[in-house]
Amino acid sequence: MNMETLDWKSLPFGYVKTDYNVRCYYRNGKWGELEISSSEYINLHMAATALHYGQEAFEGMKAFMGNDGRIRLFRWSDNSNRLKKSAEGIMMAEVHEELFHEVIVKAVSMNKRFVPPYGSGASLYIRPLLIGSGAQVGVKAASEYLFLVFVTPVGPYFKEGFKPVDMMITRTFDRAAPLGTGAIKVGGNYAASLRALEVAHHKGFASALFLDAKEKKYIDEAGPANFFGIKNNTYITPESQSILPSITNKSLQQIAKDLGMKVEIRPVPVEELGTFDEVGACGTAAVISPVNSIVDEATGEHFHFCKNGEPGPISKKLYEKLTGIQTGDLPDPYGWIEFVD
Ligand code: PLP
Ligand code: COI
Repeated sequence: MNMETLDWKSLPFGYVKTDYNVRCYYRNGKWGELEISSSEYINLHMAATALHYGQEAFEGMKAFMGNDGRIRLFRWSDNSNRLKKSAEGIMMAEVHEELFHEVIVKAVSMNKRFVPPYGSGASLYIRPLLIGSGAQVGVKAASEYLFLVFVTPVGPYFKEGFKPVDMMITRTFDRAAPLGTGAIKVGGNYAASLRALEVAHHKGFASALFLDAKEKKYIDEAGPANFFGIKNNTYITPESQSILPSITNKSLQQIAKDLGMKVEIRPVPVEELGTFDEVGACGTAAVISPVNSIVDEATGEHFHFCKNGEPGPISKKLYEKLTGIQTGDLPDPYGWIEFVD
């Protein structure tokens, strides 16, 4: 990769080939040695359960370059815990925390030259992947698994960056059922969301906003990001069985409390949208994406949040505090950061 051609400041959220990825296979009931690879391909049995029965889970986290030239990982153990839950949810071998840590640290440290420079607004996205690699033809869990981590330098998920976006409530598609797999990070959820996202993009919206699948009354989440609303000095975010528990959302709740705000985690009915002063989508990839407006696909009802197309003051404060901690510009009172040397 010729680094001269990488324009860090205008990187999209996409794939860039780096030098190495790190792999580990689970066979005969145990994890093997780490393998360092410079290939972008995997050699997979055609009857692997990942391909047929969706035994696949992934994670997403970021590493940031600080002004001091040190690389920071953000809350990696939360991602490790979530991957454990995903593995349990679709009956895959568990990646224990020590292995998870070893593999992500190796993947970052072997690709240091791809960590975007301090001040570029970009970061190194870390993508752990766990798949059933063993063959089965009947619907059964595999007995072999591959845990792989690759990294790629990324810019903002929504091309607008920290600029308000428009979203559309979808009533035509559900992403996940209440007792389904919505609360774990498995590939099937993303396949199920593709058509809704495509319709939203086609109509000019940055993302689709999903409602709870059972009653279609409450807000679930905003594509690949959680939803939050702000009013009366309160940070409000949906409680739902079918949304992914976002680590960014959890971090923003903590920051909001420390800014003297109240935090409510409860069902959020669609009608309540009209009462929020600010609305945002949050996630590792999206960071905070302030929401300018939301249109309801069914009724055409239109909710508007931003004045003069600018993010609201509280979203701005939350964004600055979160990104400040991640890049080391602000102190980390929570122990969220670990250095990779
Ligand atoms: N919701 C979904 C469906 C996601 O894919 C993500 C991204 O991981 C999030 C929410 C945000 O979660 P996190 O903040 O842990 O990245
Ligand atoms: C993330 O925020 O890490 C995500 O996984 C979002 C998306 C790219 C799936």
